[in-house]
Order: sequence, then structure tokens, then C-alpha cells
Amino acid sequence: MEPLDRATKQRLVDEVGPWHHSIGLGDGVVTPGGKTPAHHHDDLRRLHLPDLAGKSVIDIGAWDGYYTFMAEGARASRVVALDHYVWSIDFKKATQYVLDRQRSGQRIQSFHTVPDLWNPIDLPGKRGFDLAHRVLNSRAEVVVDDFMAMDLAALGAFDVVLFLGVIYHLEEPLRALRRLRQVTRDLAVIESEAVLLPGRPGRPLWQFVDADQLNDDPSNWWVPTAEGLRSMCLAAGFSRAEVVSGPPERSRFRRSRAMPYRLVVHAFS
Ligand SMILES: C[S@@+](CC[C@H](N)C(=O)[O-])C[C@H]1O[C@@H](n2cnc3c(N)ncnc32)[C@H](O)[C@@H]1O
Repeated sequence: MEPLDRATKQRLVDEVGPWHHSIGLGDGVVTPGGKTPAHHHDDLRRLHLPDLAGKSVIDIGAWDGYYTFMAEGARASRVVALDHYVWSIDFKKATQYVLDRQRSGQRIQSFHTVPDLWNPIDLPGKRGFDLAHRVLNSRAEVVVDDFMAMDLAALGAFDVVLFLGVIYHLEEPLRALRRLRQVTRDLAVIESEAVLLPGRPGRPLWQFVDADQLNDDPSNWWVPTAEGLRSMCLAAGFSRAEVVSGPPERSRFRRSRAMPYRLVVHAFS
């Protein structure tokens, strides 16, 4: 592909919006993600990723592809980006839809049930990924499919599976982890919204989140405690699972309140 000059890159980036990830596209152009470069820096530290050089990596729930392109940059031998849900959403319309529903006090429906917002043919939510893929001359393979419904035998297995910010969006977390186990040759890195529940240290619990109760996002369903996710990984067939980034220090928070945080578990095949 012809290299693009700075102004053209910036114009194409501005046309996509809104972005989820902040991805450096060269010449000082960085996509304006809701996740800022500082967020990415902090997230990467919490993930405790192994050396990806020479490994096969799949990024399940890739969205704009920050972790896909990061794995390529880390010299992974093969990188696959898989997604379908946000890629099918028209986010300009979805943002307006959420505002309208909030103003009128109506419940926010799952985006895939609102025909005007859902377009799995043209994939309006994939424009950012496509632009970054093109500008970065990425060789990452792209799979547009529902991880919960697709044929996993055709997908194969990967040394490292990135499952970042996905599990709490799925209605059936145990089945999801069993499917994750099927595609994991060595390590699955599972990052999730999580909850620290007062008075229940170490209990393997999952909290049900009804519809739009979490972040005004109707695609959230189940939020685990650290032990809830860790022990469910074992139930799903992983041989070992470790919390590598757990709850914040208890003393920093009121003991009587449930405390949301982001959890990272490493699950080994
Ligand atoms: C909160 S975003 C996380 C994006 C990215 N992994 C990150 O950590 O920044 C959740 C992602 O999971 C994807 N996702 C949700 N359900 C999925 C499914 N059944 N199959 C594939 N991807 C899914 C969404 O489309 C979205 O890109």
C-alpha cells in the first residue's frame, strides 16, 4: 500500500470516530481512543504478558486492534484478530440512542436487538480496525465471527490467547471458558471487570448484572470475584489458574461496600 502522509492519516482517523483504542499510526498520529495511551500502559503492566516472540497469538474481542498490533510488534509468529459484536454496531447512532433512552427514562436495549444500530453486513464498527490494519501494514489475520457460536476446530489452537474485557459480556461464562480452553495451547490471559465483596474473602462468586446496570452497557451479564473466575477456569478444564492482578488493597476502601475493579487471571492448558 502507498504510504499515507500525516494529514491524510489524521483525516481518515477523524472520519472513523468514536475510537476505543489509542493506536499509534506513525507521524505522531494516535487514534483518539476512550482508552488513552496511559490506560493502555497501565493495562499492559497488569496483564503480565509473557514474551510473545515466535508465539501464535489470538486476540478474541479485538475491537480496534490495540492488542493485535501490539502482539505483532512483539514479533509473534502468527496473530489472529477475532471479533464480531462491536464490529457490527454503528457507534455514532448507538451513542445518540443511549442519550435518547436516558433522557426519556427508558431501558437501554441490547444493541443487536435494535435494527437501526446493528449491521453485521457492512460492519461499521470495524472501520477503525481496518484503517489501523492498513496503515500499519499489518499481516494479522482477521476472523469475523461469534466466539460462542463458531466452529472452534476450524479456528485451531494458539500458544497465547488474549481474552481481554470479554467474559463479562457473555451470557454463559462457564461454556465460554470451556471454549477458551479448546483454543489454548499454552496460556489464556483473561482480563475482566470484577467485584470485591465485603465479608466474603476467597468465595467463588459471580454477580449477575441485569441489562444496563454496569456502565450503561446492556451487554454486561456476569461479574466474578477473583476466586470465582480462577476456580471456574479449573472447572472449565485448565490445569492451573493464577490471579496475576487482583483486588486493590482492602485498607484503601470502606470494608462495608462492594468494590469494582479489573482482574487478570492466567489460565494454563
Ligand atoms: C470491552 S471490549 C474489550 C476490547 C479489547 N479486548 C480490550 O480489552 O480493550 C469487549 C469486546 O469483546 C467482543 N465480544 C463480545 N462478545 C463476543 C463474542 N461472542 N465473540 C467475539 N467477540 C465478542 C466485543 O465485540 C468487544 O470488542
